Amino acid sequence: MTNDTVALDDSIHLTESELLELEAVLTGGIHLQKTAEIAKETVIRVENLSAYFGHKQVLNHLQLEIKDKEITALIGPSGCGKTTFLRTLNRMSHTVPGFRHEGTVNVLGQDVAMVRDVESFRRAVGMLFQRPNPFPMSIMDNLTLALKLFGVSKKERVEIAKAKLDEVGLYDDLKDRLHQSPFALSGGQQQRLCLARALAVQPKVLLLDEPASALDPKSTKLLEDLFVRLAEHMTIVIVTHNLAQAKRIAKRTAFMEAGEIVEFELTDKLFYHPNDPRTRVYVEEQIG
Ligand SMILES: Nc1ncnc2c1ncn2[C@@H]1O[C@H](COP(=O)(O)OP(=O)(O)OP(=O)(O)O)[C@@H](O)[C@H]1O
Ligand SMILES: [Mg+2]
Repeated sequence: MTNDTVALDDSIHLTESELLELEAVLTGGIHLQKTAEIAKETVIRVENLSAYFGHKQVLNHLQLEIKDKEITALIGPSGCGKTTFLRTLNRMSHTVPGFRHEGTVNVLGQDVAMVRDVESFRRAVGMLFQRPNPFPMSIMDNLTLALKLFGVSKKERVEIAKAKLDEVGLYDDLKDRLHQSPFALSGGQQQRLCLARALAVQPKVLLLDEPASALDPKSTKLLEDLFVRLAEHMTIVIVTHNLAQAKRIAKRTAFMEAGEIVEFELTDKLFYHPNDPRTRVYVEEQIG
């Protein structure tokens, strides 16, 4: 605290110890305020997670914290457990017969193993898969089905559907075909439609399992730009085999191998200055 601040009001007379105390409170306050600006909420907290399909262990003591308003990438060789891990975050793995897990997975403040209202939980945690999977119904019905199940009025459903189509850049192209089948759309358009469908219920977390691996570079770029924009107000976890994609969009990246998280770091650090030789070998192999 500067002397100027004290001199603002001549009627204030503080002893030296009172001044010190005031200064501590004020600078402490300022410090806290700054920390609050920087610190992001942990949205996903994984502690000591091991998972099994029958007797086969597929995830081994995973430890991870994922922050709000960030894109986190999961990379690693085929079969290392990326999809299993991602699907554990929204309880999808739990529906596979023979699946069980140890440790805790906390998403949006809830232990996924203890979720009672699965419907609301799934609403908060959306997912996009490798292959676009529109439902066999009209484009509009794809967008409004979940909202209808949640009791949203027809007028509001249609408004939300149009807004979400606009958000993914499809409204102008599709506004005259809303009651037609989505299967005539290109793969990239179908994937953006599925993204709009996921966004319609306003999820807080979006899980993406290689969402662009079946798409051409232009559609991939459109999706990546959308993910970056969406991450301004939500948490995104993306599994990708495309290291350049992780580099382009993910703030942090976890490298998995044989069911373990070998390293979890800021993406640039992981790619250019990895701590673990296994990460270095994988990244060098992939980049070639
Ligand atoms: N439903 C299942 N039943 C039994 N084993 C399974 C099941 N699903 C996955 N696995 C096994 O779990 C391990 C991890 O698979 P997972 O699909 O999570 O890997 P991944 O890293 O996503 O691979 P990819 O990059 O090829 O998609 C593999 O050994 C796989 O064979
Ligand atoms: Mg997979």
